[in-house]
Amino acid sequence: MRHLLGIEGLSQGQITDILDLSERYVSRNRQNDKHAGGLEGKTMVNMFFENSTRTQASFEIAGKRLGADVLNMSMATSSVKKGETLIDTALTLNAMHPDLLVVRHQNSGAVALLAEKVNCAVINAGDGRHEHPTQALLDALTIRRRKGRLHRLTVAICGDIAHSRVARSNLFLLGKMENRVRLVGPRTLMPTGVDKFGVEVFEDMREGLAGADVVMMLRLQKERMDGGFIPSEREYFHRWGLDAEKLSFARDDAIVMHPGPMNRGVEIDGEIADDINRSVIQEQVEMGVAVRMAVLDLLSRHNGPTGIDV
Ligand code: CP
Repeated sequence: MRHLLGIEGLSQGQITDILDLSERYVSRNRQNDKHAGGLEGKTMVNMFFENSTRTQASFEIAGKRLGADVLNMSMATSSVKKGETLIDTALTLNAMHPDLLVVRHQNSGAVALLAEKVNCAVINAGDGRHEHPTQALLDALTIRRRKGRLHRLTVAICGDIAHSRVARSNLFLLGKMENRVRLVGPRTLMPTGVDKFGVEVFEDMREGLAGADVVMMLRLQKERMDGGFIPSEREYFHRWGLDAEKLSFARDDAIVMHPGPMNRGVEIDGEIADDINRSVIQEQVEMGVAVRMAVLDLLSRHNGPTGIDV
């Protein structure tokens, strides 16, 4: 059984293979040659226990463009609300012989646990604060296209690092591809022991952004803060929100990224987010469809060239 549960266990070669295949899907999607096929007769089930706009919609579009039968489970109206557990829900769906399960869950490790219980391929669409592998892959594809390479770049990941699965997956991916990663944000939102990942940590935005090629902004994940430190939004924007003045410390050609959803005026100024010369936020969304098509394609082949099983 082969799954995509995280970036941590992927090799540099596997990441490059996924990005190269994604690139082919970008071209097809842009040439209006969208219905690539390849997954006819396969059944893909989206199980999102947490809210999503981008990830769920792009997995659905990706599956349909590849010709799969796609079922979007509405977890809010499912028997989970009557007390059925994640595992029992997964076993129930497994009995219907799906080929691919795409799962988002609020608990770190829940998707890996589920993958042990079912017979089909499982894709982690975000588990707690652990990993969001397809987000890191689409971010990598966006960076590679814009910068012409995915190595020896200085990437500043800014904001609520402690609660962010996007930060974790990006940290693994960018590190594997030999980039210089900086984590920038309040001390209270920085995970302990992060130094072991070979990153630089900054509390001051201007120092963290100095000379950066890529500025990746993250939102405050208040839903994971357990009543801990929640700064006022005004104070937060003043110190860590990305505006033109702070961005001027990065390279002149630095790109601005955000995985979404965005909170304008909190972690990012709306004008920066909409600046087509700097912001690649909409391109990230576009890359999301191509990357998810590539991942579905590879996993559905089971013996695909990348041998994803992590
Ligand atoms: N980036 C991301 O995961 O967005 P959604 O929560 O909208 O899927």
